[in-house]
Amino acid sequence: MAAHKIAIIPGDGIGTEVVPEGLKVLDAAGRKFGIDYEFTHFDWSCERYKDTGEFMPKDGIQQLSGHEAIFLGAVGWPGVPDHVSLWGLLIPIRREFDQYVNLRPVRLFEGVRSPLAGRKPGDIDYYVVRENCEGEYSSMGGRHNRGTEHDMAIQESVFTRRGVDRVMKFAFELAARRGKHVTSATKSNGIIHTMPFWDERFEEMKKAYPGFKTDQFHIDILTAHFVQHPDWFDVVVASNLFGDILSDLGPATTGTIAIAPSANLNPEGKHPSMFEPVHGSAPDIAGKGIANPIGQIWSGAMMLQHMGHQDAHDAILKAIETVLKDGGPKTPDLGGQASTADLGSAIAEVVASS
Ligand code: NAD
Ligand code: IPM
Ligand code: MN
Repeated sequence: MAAHKIAIIPGDGIGTEVVPEGLKVLDAAGRKFGIDYEFTHFDWSCERYKDTGEFMPKDGIQQLSGHEAIFLGAVGWPGVPDHVSLWGLLIPIRREFDQYVNLRPVRLFEGVRSPLAGRKPGDIDYYVVRENCEGEYSSMGGRHNRGTEHDMAIQESVFTRRGVDRVMKFAFELAARRGKHVTSATKSNGIIHTMPFWDERFEEMKKAYPGFKTDQFHIDILTAHFVQHPDWFDVVVASNLFGDILSDLGPATTGTIAIAPSANLNPEGKHPSMFEPVHGSAPDIAGKGIANPIGQIWSGAMMLQHMGHQDAHDAILKAIETVLKDGGPKTPDLGGQASTADLGSAIAEVVASS
């Protein structure tokens, strides 16, 4: 099989620390399962922005488009306003490549303590399917009367029938392979244009999936249910902003957000998909070598799955499970003292010997 062409963008902060661990595990899986890669490394980051005034070159999207997938660490660093860095790199990639699904699994592993009393593996095991190209994340709107007492900001949300339907369809298709249960995150009691529309499209989509269990909750009470009844959920479909919030909350209930991966998918495969942890650049711990690399490593597993290597994906997941369960190295967020490299190497070794 031809080598998989993969773009590597470590980005900022701990992104540069966890990406090498992700690559370590990808290499181990490659050797084990006979998968070849051709990696292209990009230094696109806040540092590059400070030096050159841009995050990626003018033809950056075009450069990436020659790749099958993108493996990204994190973007954002103090000194550069976050909306500038994220709209300079991460968000354009999601949009230009029409990565309209942001798939974020939430799972409690054996050997990791949930902050929710009495919860054990199996109690927390669901997916957040986040709309990733429109919704509340829009460039429409503006600032008015800057510097006056009438200073104001308007931010418009954009929900299209095509955009909503395709992410909901993805959620139902995913649920078809799991528990046939889809939950919709809404807020149609307060947001009176977009969210009633979202509900309408959910009602319509349900009709195509008879026999499925469906429910919907307003986002406020849904966050409470994530904490009090995580066992209720199978697949949760949400708008861009609601999905963003739910996909930090969910992993936090599984002990640490640092293990959470994400797949920014262009499901039709017309464009590259992007794989990155849910977490950010963590300036508070960057440079210390203590970041947990599991979110990055699991994202690598999702990338292999996307590229057709289910066996390699499963082996990496199993290795993560084994290391967490069997008293392997744990980084401080998991209650241990291990380094990023200790944990990454332990997982790579289990993959190699699997
Ligand atoms: P963050 O995820 O970077 O950090 C939140 C907290 O979680 C911090 O205390 C951090 O130390 C901890 N944490 C995160 N990842 C960890 C890991 N792998 N191991 C151990 N602990 C970890 O969120 P933030 O502080 O809101 O954002 C910091 C910067 O990252 C900002 O510039 C933000 O915009 C950016 N960000 C980028 C992405 C992305 O690139 N996809 C995602 C979220 C935030
Ligand atoms: C994420 C991040 C990004 C988002 C930020 C950094 C723009 O929080 O990937 O979850 O909101 O999508
Ligand atoms: Mn987020």
